Amino acid sequence: MLSWDDYDATANATRSSGEFAARILPEEQDANAPAVAPRERQFAAEDAAATRSTLEETPSPAVEATLTLDPAWRDEGPSTVEPVLAPTPPVRAVALPKPPPVTTAKAPVDRLDGAVPSASVETVTRPVDTAATTVAEPNPAIQEAVAARLDHDSEMQESQRVTVDQKRMINCRADLNQLVPFKYDWAWQKYLDGCANHWMPQEINMTADVSLWKSDDGLSADERVIVKRSLGFFSTADSLVANNLVLSVYRLITNPECRQYLLRQAFEEAIHTHAYQYCIESLGMDEGEIFNMYHEVPTVAHKASWALKYTRELADPNFQTGTVENDKALLKNLIAYYCVLEGIFFYCGFTQILSMGRRNKMTGTSEQFQYILRDESMHVNFGIDVINQIKLENPHLWDEEMQDLATSMILEGTELETRYARDTMPRGVLGMNANTMAEYLQFIANRRLAQIGLTEQFPGVKNPFPWMSEIMDLKKEKNFFETRVTEYQTGGALSWD
Ligand SMILES: [Fe+2]
Ligand SMILES: [Fe+2]
Repeated sequence: MLSWDDYDATANATRSSGEFAARILPEEQDANAPAVAPRERQFAAEDAAATRSTLEETPSPAVEATLTLDPAWRDEGPSTVEPVLAPTPPVRAVALPKPPPVTTAKAPVDRLDGAVPSASVETVTRPVDTAATTVAEPNPAIQEAVAARLDHDSEMQESQRVTVDQKRMINCRADLNQLVPFKYDWAWQKYLDGCANHWMPQEINMTADVSLWKSDDGLSADERVIVKRSLGFFSTADSLVANNLVLSVYRLITNPECRQYLLRQAFEEAIHTHAYQYCIESLGMDEGEIFNMYHEVPTVAHKASWALKYTRELADPNFQTGTVENDKALLKNLIAYYCVLEGIFFYCGFTQILSMGRRNKMTGTSEQFQYILRDESMHVNFGIDVINQIKLENPHLWDEEMQDLATSMILEGTELETRYARDTMPRGVLGMNANTMAEYLQFIANRRLAQIGLTEQFPGVKNPFPWMSEIMDLKKEKNFFETRVTEYQTGGALSWD
């Protein structure tokens, strides 16, 4: 299997050998041609072609008529004969029907950026005149209304230079199209870090996995269950994550630098779904079986339905923040989404697949999961920063009731993930079992609780899989409220030990 170093070396060699340029412009590779750069010759050829095309353009009928009258005009310069042009059809006067009465109504400003409207404006509405007319002349009343609206909009723009103090994580009234000045530098930094870590599933060699999966004695029955369950859960869970992100979270987080990261995260979720599909297809699995596990296999279905339960109310396109009740609903959703769905539900499957990779089994699939885990740990930390920022800006939301709810959601998530571990590991496999996994999940749960300022519920529990922390590199798993992220600067290759 190609290592990442091999991949980079091949890519660099191809770039430096000029193979790329030769493939693009083979017709330019003439040894006898004058020493002109291929691109310049191509541009010159294109310019000449464009000039020819202009000169050879078919004349308009009126000009053609003129040329017929005086053939000499074409070849010997301008003629003294006045060109005869087709007469212009007479302008037909059409009487406008009497305009219907104008009505006015107060309506909220239609904000393109999704910020919370701060005022309502007077708008003019008019019933649509369905009478047939071909006159393309706007109604004077509509013209007046358009001019008034344009004047009003330009006044609004002048008065909307955003300052850092106006920026807020939710319910922001400032213009969301202004990325800078940054208020949350950590969000922008995470966006840059995410871009530096870009990868694609097809870059990973799956050859060894395909032969291992297809061989009769390559994997034990328990190991095969683990691969199938993991792909079954993640392939649909990441679609759920992406839907929630794009349809709900993006709309309700009113800060441009955070939205910039959310756009990056949304694309990463698409890459993850792509990676699972790529594994399923490469291994020749039954796609119907895998993609339906989220409602056919109980322990997978319980996790999916739990996640759906906490996103259902926000899935309503008319849901708006701005009241204590709804702001709490959003906060609850963010905790369920980032701390539980991405922060706990992914960890049993990830640990199992990465353990296979450590044992030199399904190394391509493991490598895909390793890249996904690196992205996911950043998603979780971004979400935790957002949650903590909302708490900071809206301390009234973080009351005892909300803290109890958050704690119980994290405990529910831990229990569901533990059940999933017992279902997928009825006996010891890959150097782990359901009990060690339960301990690991308690360790993760403690971490999630502490990250949002709650009391750890499993005191003294240790991490039974320290190699997972090494793979993830917990130094990177710091969020802004713990320390500044200084890793992730170089991106690119991961080494697999
Ligand atoms: Fe994902
Ligand atoms: Fe994610």
